[in-house]
Amino acid sequence: MKSHEIRQKYLNFFETKGHKIIPSASLVPANDPTVLFTTAGMHPLVPFLMGEPHPNGKRLANFQKCLRTDDIDEVGDATHNTFFEMLGNWSLGDYWKEESISWSYEFLTDTKWLGIEKSNLAVTVFAGDQDAPKDEESAEIWKKLGVPESRIAYLGKKDNWWGPPGQTGPCGPDTEIFYWIGSEEAPEKFDPENKQWVEIWNNVFMQYNKNAEGKFEPLKQKNVDTGMGLERITTALGGYSTIYESDLFQHILDKIRSLTSNSEEKSERIIADHIRAATFMIADGVVPSNKDRGYILRRLIRRAVTYARKMGIDRPFLNEIKEAVVATYSDFYPELKDQKISEELLKEEEKFRKTLNTGLKMIEGKQSVSGKEAFDLFQSYGFPFELTRELVKIENEEDFHAEFKKHQELSRTASAGQFKGGLASHSDKNVRYHTATHLMNAALRKVLGSHVIQKGSNINEERTRFDFVHNAKLTDEEKSAVETLVNEWIEKDLPVQKDIMPKEEAEKLGVVGAFGEKYPDTVSIYSIVDPNTNEIVSREYCGGPHVEHTGLIGKFKIQKEEAVSAGVRRIKATIEN
Ligand code: SER
Repeated sequence: MKSHEIRQKYLNFFETKGHKIIPSASLVPANDPTVLFTTAGMHPLVPFLMGEPHPNGKRLANFQKCLRTDDIDEVGDATHNTFFEMLGNWSLGDYWKEESISWSYEFLTDTKWLGIEKSNLAVTVFAGDQDAPKDEESAEIWKKLGVPESRIAYLGKKDNWWGPPGQTGPCGPDTEIFYWIGSEEAPEKFDPENKQWVEIWNNVFMQYNKNAEGKFEPLKQKNVDTGMGLERITTALGGYSTIYESDLFQHILDKIRSLTSNSEEKSERIIADHIRAATFMIADGVVPSNKDRGYILRRLIRRAVTYARKMGIDRPFLNEIKEAVVATYSDFYPELKDQKISEELLKEEEKFRKTLNTGLKMIEGKQSVSGKEAFDLFQSYGFPFELTRELVKIENEEDFHAEFKKHQELSRTASAGQFKGGLASHSDKNVRYHTATHLMNAALRKVLGSHVIQKGSNINEERTRFDFVHNAKLTDEEKSAVETLVNEWIEKDLPVQKDIMPKEEAEKLGVVGAFGEKYPDTVSIYSIVDPNTNEIVSREYCGGPHVEHTGLIGKFKIQKEEAVSAGVRRIKATIEN
């Protein structure tokens, strides 16, 4: 059965049970600042699950686009993906377990609907703990419908409890329905650990609210929240072993394969998953950037381009994949027809292509790179580790893995919405100001002359303050020339590189220092070089830290220019995202 047939049957079935079909909400949550994306079908309905009346009544059903970004780096295997769709039906203080369970069973087994053999189904119910009792009620309903005791497993909170989606909110015990995908006949006794039993549907009985103290208090109204992953059910019913074999991916994968004679399974899957997600994200107003949602989008696009390049696709191609995504989905999601999606994809693709070439140039000619350098390539340029490893030898790989683990923890926290401020630690405001200050110093020297030398600098979260040797007030033209130069360098997204070297060598290179500063025998230098022209934009003695590429800084603006003392001027400048 094709995905669209399952989707349509599902909606029709619940209409016959008095449900109103509501549209999919945006991937960008409207009223929830605690998470970046809509991660479950029930997510947009939280206010209504908490008791607010829904304009369409108490029985609702839909398909909802969702995005989970905890495991981007795992995509490419058989099971991980980012974007997915959830079929859901809800009772907002209306029907309860009896109807919910028997309707699910009817939809799955009746030949008018999915027509699954009853002998291929099994269920789990909540075993009970200190917060809530064993869910005997659900088990009894299943038994009444004819599900044998041997096909009912009782599990704890880890398996049979859902929510809340954030730290607090509606939650409760659930009953999950499993489908046998094995080629042999399904065993009499259900073992939820056996991977041939695949979970296809989750019916949550929301009767609690987890409050800020972590206590489970009864909800004002008892709700039913069910979720069935469309990819998952389509794959299971089709007898496929991965979602990529289902019709949802066929057109997209065929397109990718038509672009190269070197197609390779993992790369194909990564491109298909990432560009499918990116297309939906842009349609919902996300644009590539260095923060939050925009950063996730940027990462997805960059990974897709890098893996394509690995298969020999070395020209802009994202829009061709996007067209396959649109062809697959636009009947259900007309917003995908928006022209701006192509523009954003192309812009980001071209920008990244330049950066990627820079990264490749950084490896070229080298026999080996350190684990830390490999990580920097991954982090700054989205260069997958395997690609670096294919090109050069990697010394102390464990350094890469250690850094990678830190990074992964950080993005997990970020996608759980608990991260304050910027998404990655390197884009922390102070660090961005620090690099902006180097660029400002370089721009001042270019506009006013090389007599400009740093006299002092002070950076906080709000601004950078920079004192320098110069004996006249800056004209408006000079200030605007400095701003323009700095912003051009930011726009070019130049790599920022750190080197450690003997002081004599640094002196020979003409590294810029601060007025009257003494440097030790071994110095740390930060260079910003334009890889296209080889222009040394900035090269200063500095301990860091700095952003890894200038695109992370944001927009630079001079706020104030004044005298500090005779022959010394002061600039206060800010950056904005
Ligand atoms: N909220 C539950 C889930 O995401 C059921 O919709 O599985």
